[in-house]
Amino acid sequence: MQCTLTNCRVATMRPGAPYGLIDDAAVVLEDGLIDWVGPAADRDTSPDEVRLDMQGRLVTPGLIDCHTHLVYAGNRADEWALRLEGASYEEIAKRGGGIVSTVRATRAADHGRLLDATRARLDVLMAEGVTTVEVKSGYGLDVETELRMLRVARELGEAPDIDVAATFLGAHALPPEYKDRREDYVRLLIDDVLPAVAAEGLADAVDAYCEGIAFTADEVRSVFESARERDLPLRLHAEQLSNCGGAAMAADMGALSCDHLEYLDERGIEAMAAAGSVAVLVPGAWYYLRETRKPPVDELRAANVPIAVSTDHNPGTSPVLSILAAMNMSCVLFGLGPEEALRGATVHAARALGLEDRGMIEPGKLADLAVWDMQTPAELSYTLGHNPCRQVFKAGVPRNGH
Ligand code: NIG
Ligand code: FE
Repeated sequence: MQCTLTNCRVATMRPGAPYGLIDDAAVVLEDGLIDWVGPAADRDTSPDEVRLDMQGRLVTPGLIDCHTHLVYAGNRADEWALRLEGASYEEIAKRGGGIVSTVRATRAADHGRLLDATRARLDVLMAEGVTTVEVKSGYGLDVETELRMLRVARELGEAPDIDVAATFLGAHALPPEYKDRREDYVRLLIDDVLPAVAAEGLADAVDAYCEGIAFTADEVRSVFESARERDLPLRLHAEQLSNCGGAAMAADMGALSCDHLEYLDERGIEAMAAAGSVAVLVPGAWYYLRETRKPPVDELRAANVPIAVSTDHNPGTSPVLSILAAMNMSCVLFGLGPEEALRGATVHAARALGLEDRGMIEPGKLADLAVWDMQTPAELSYTLGHNPCRQVFKAGVPRNGH
């Protein structure tokens, strides 16, 4: 099936002109892919083609939220209140709260409950033009619950109007039953959980949390070696609260991305630049934790490390369910420009997922598009609390309800 979007401005996100912007454009979609894009005047139209008038609106690639923890039960509003009274994220974690309290709630939730809760959250992201989302496990920390979380992610990805990239994050926290048995838990991940995940084809990548309150770089490296033997790409929560050398280790192992990065050092930046790893910034977590140290954006730019932006939606550090809000925060809090923020939620986010078939409007890429009630792409990260998304195309098909 072929159809042509006409009467639109298109932010292709191709390199060159700002946003790769084309005025008075046409976009031809065929069999789920972009077939042609350019100024409408440059294209010969045939009288019988299906034309959709975009009424002068802005068209961008469908947005990509490349780092979320969308599958979980319960919430952590109690912890949020404690943090507002002065308790730190680390103190709460050391007292058996934090990630582990969401682990308790998630272990107690069956597949149906997790699926319903996650779908409700996913709907909110999708309404803002998200066509690809990454979803991590990591609130199970045992074979059964990690598999359940990833099966939920896979089931949600069966819907025709969203792609879900599933990431195994078994090395997220030490589960309470392994307290004082760190090595045994890392062995469990390598010997039991990861093989079970891989046997069912439930993960597209493997992530870990490298931090003082989580896992050391050496522990993560051993999980990553096992992931690499299974050809699973690597990602890492790195240098969020302190510098543990995780980013350099992960990049040296060829990681697709290192995420957070507030405490990233020169060695980490060099390793990421050499490996082509994407720096995924998650300003929602920075905002909620009232962090003061910012990721080294100028240095990342100078080293040509691609920067992505994501919600990091999770019940603890970032209950943010809006990629547009994350883009806005990346500008206000971290100093990105609006074009960088949009690249961060399109072409660079695609790269963080190893999905180079999307994130840009050019022939041959997936026809994942968002249509916005606005004139200039800078408006996407300019407003807060307003959803100007008018229509979404997923693989060339208009989404129902838009
Ligand atoms: O990306 N940093 C570790 N993991 C999550 C937080 C998870 C949680 O607190 O539940 C993050 O910030
Ligand atoms: Fe995260």
